[in-house]
Amino acid sequence: MAVKINPKRIRKDFPIFSRERKLAYLDNAATTQKPKCVIDAEKNFYGSTNANVHRGLYKISERATEMYEKAHEKTAEFVGAGGMQEIIFTRNATESLNVVAGSIGKTLKAGDEVVLTLMEHHSNIVPWQQLQRKGVKLRYVGFGKDGKLDYNEFEQCIGKNTKVVSFVHASNVLGSINDAKKICKIAHENGAIAVVDGAQSVPHMEVDVKKMDCDFLAFSAHKMLGPMGIGILYGKEEALLKMEPFLYGGDMIKSVGKFEASWNTLPWKFEAGTPNVAGAIGFSAAIGYLENIGMQNVRKHEEEITEYALRKLSEIGGLEIYGSRNAQDRLGVISFNVEGLHPHDVAALLDEEGIAIRAGHACAQPLLAQLGVNAVCRASFYVYNTKEEVDRLCKAIGKCKSILM
Ligand SMILES: Cc1ncc(COP(=O)(O)O)c(C=O)c1O
Repeated sequence: MAVKINPKRIRKDFPIFSRERKLAYLDNAATTQKPKCVIDAEKNFYGSTNANVHRGLYKISERATEMYEKAHEKTAEFVGAGGMQEIIFTRNATESLNVVAGSIGKTLKAGDEVVLTLMEHHSNIVPWQQLQRKGVKLRYVGFGKDGKLDYNEFEQCIGKNTKVVSFVHASNVLGSINDAKKICKIAHENGAIAVVDGAQSVPHMEVDVKKMDCDFLAFSAHKMLGPMGIGILYGKEEALLKMEPFLYGGDMIKSVGKFEASWNTLPWKFEAGTPNVAGAIGFSAAIGYLENIGMQNVRKHEEEITEYALRKLSEIGGLEIYGSRNAQDRLGVISFNVEGLHPHDVAALLDEEGIAIRAGHACAQPLLAQLGVNAVCRASFYVYNTKEEVDRLCKAIGKCKSILM
């Protein structure tokens, strides 16, 4: 059962909040702040263990290798993967999705189809678009005013030529949480691979790749208290074994001749070159921190704060809030527009009040086109956000309206 967390207590673990005392950081969907344990883990690696992995026959290199591999194991456990062979470290969720699209793309041919949704972040659109050069067709499943995907449309869009269904688990604009298990099932029933963009879901709720039965899951450490520059690609072992590497070079090979090479075992076959070892170790600390809080409790806190924010924001006149009004259907991500004001002006004025939100297209232009807007304001919450910050946000929006209108 979920337990109430204390965001004020949690804030004490984040050095930035003792420096920036006035800051209401509400841009967590873009990136999250880092607790001291994550900063220390990364710093300590460089201060005490810095060496390249999988190469040195000396103690600190062996220790670095062990720590790096443990980070894979911890990540595997966190998402319910079968072991570290199913966890590839990349630079970010974007790169993880590029690995999948790039590698699977090599096997696709003209007439094959990839099904996406209109809720995708650009990083789950643009890599697939590149396959159009080979004659691969893209199809899109839409969503309704309530921010929910039309699951019947999946049945209509997916056909005998569908090879991949790639979709966002939770929208970075609407906050909608999609039924990933259901979509993976539809994909598999039609012989297609299911790729899940978990960049927004994995940081905020329990995600189990085996229960979901996805073939791939992409996410980023920096959106879940971890360092920037480290991303994760989970892949089912049998899928990864079949897949061609994406990047080629050192560490991903078993042997190299003048004209040919053979590949290393998993996951190293997909990790070419020197990896971000410190980032992986920092990420491992972030997972530990989140596990101490408990992912169920993270979700409960965000549901509470989202429910409160939806209620308070609806009380402000002239505000259009996008997506479901039910906090249970969504993450702590709320996009809105203030009638007559450009989101950039709103964000700039909120900044004057010490409130950080996102304004713009949120890297989801097809989604915004469906909403009929070019830009939105977006407030997004995490474990350290409080209802007082929501009150400050609402008050500041009121102030914006009085100054700018
Ligand atoms: C839903 C979604 N997918 C993918 C990404 C890309 O993440 P990154 O920039 O860490 O690669 C984001 C980032 O905002 C996102 O919100």
